[in-house]
Amino acid sequence: MTGSAAPSLFGRPVTISGLGAHLPGKVLTNHDLATFLDTSDEWITQRTGIKERRVAEEGLSASDLGIIAARQALADAGLSPEQVDLVITATISPDRLMPATAARIAYQCGCVNAGSLDVSAGCTGFVYALAMAAGAVASGLHQYVLVVGAEAISRLLDWQDRATAVLFGDGAGAAVISPLEGASERAGAKTGVGILGFDLGSDGSGEEFLLIPAGGSRLPASAETVAARQHYMKMNGHEVYKFATRVIVQSALRVLEHCGKTVDDLDLFVPHQANLRIIEAAAKKLGVPENKIYTNLQRYGNTSCASIPLCLSEARAEGKLRAGDLVLLMGFGAGLTWGACLLEWTDGKAAGAGGTSTHTAGSTAGGNTHEERN
Ligand code: COA
Repeated sequence: MTGSAAPSLFGRPVTISGLGAHLPGKVLTNHDLATFLDTSDEWITQRTGIKERRVAEEGLSASDLGIIAARQALADAGLSPEQVDLVITATISPDRLMPATAARIAYQCGCVNAGSLDVSAGCTGFVYALAMAAGAVASGLHQYVLVVGAEAISRLLDWQDRATAVLFGDGAGAAVISPLEGASERAGAKTGVGILGFDLGSDGSGEEFLLIPAGGSRLPASAETVAARQHYMKMNGHEVYKFATRVIVQSALRVLEHCGKTVDDLDLFVPHQANLRIIEAAAKKLGVPENKIYTNLQRYGNTSCASIPLCLSEARAEGKLRAGDLVLLMGFGAGLTWGACLLEWTDGKAAGAGGTSTHTAGSTAGGNTHEERN
């Protein structure tokens, strides 16, 4: 294991002050998949927990989904687009290799005063982008950062490969990161309110376990790479499974310890939605009870960088994410990468926001969850 660090956040307190979510309307069930793949609802349900997923309508890309989620997050934070300093898009299915998908999202949302960039960190991208955003706001470099997890992964799947095609789905989620209104300065403090700390890690020795082999500078696209279907996602599911169950536990414990908290302090665990078996195995090792875990993969599959903000949006809409709750976000994916974020949820709009807060919970359909929390 290489390259992991668990910093708590220094500087001024920062928080998530707005959320947005968008899912395409087209539903693809396990039964639908079984009509053209050698698979079954029983196999997919038992091995992954997934029942159905969304697929973006023809002609739509990751940014099209992200733009809708981003606009919702801005409205939710009560922020006008001109106030945003930076737009970060986390994605494994960017519109193009160049330019960044974030540039189109920023432009279409009217963030005329913002810089923009994409974060590429596999399905961990949202947590990585959140860390970059939180650090920038805490330091005073930026006031408002819009983080968008946007995926049209269906475009990068090999629909002849049952090992990957059944796992993923399209969608987008967004969050506004801003200074925490009314909080006192706490430079150097290890615990507080809002976003408390991160543990980010990476192990490039696992690069071949989850990748799109062709289309970059290492293996440029050619007639041969297309014929060999190397422009699609490839995965060694067994290795990724072992990796995920290991790093979730390690990373979660690191960020908790660094922030002076324990598993018992947690109110909500929001893991990346890859596979119910991975989530349940890791939660069991950690000792997180089932009623504190939020999942929506049953309805959306693995939405990669969108999964965590989609969960947050839905959990809040269902009353399962409340002010004062201690929340653990956990991402993992290609790279291989992983990232944990610990935060205390604050249900407020952005400090100094100029717009109107609507507190929309996104266009998501509402709960498909584990048991109700007490
Ligand atoms: N439908 C039916 N059968 C399938 C199948 C599918 N969609 N995909 C694979 N199989 C078959 C395999 O070919 C194998 O058949 P065999 O025994 O005849 O060789 C059998 O099912 C078991 O395959 P295996 O890969 O051992 O299954 P598994 O229990 O490890 O589950 C995954 C496979 C992909 C669900 C699991 O490894 C996984 O979730 N890995 C992590 C993937 C992930 O989360 N990736 C994203 C991370 S961000």
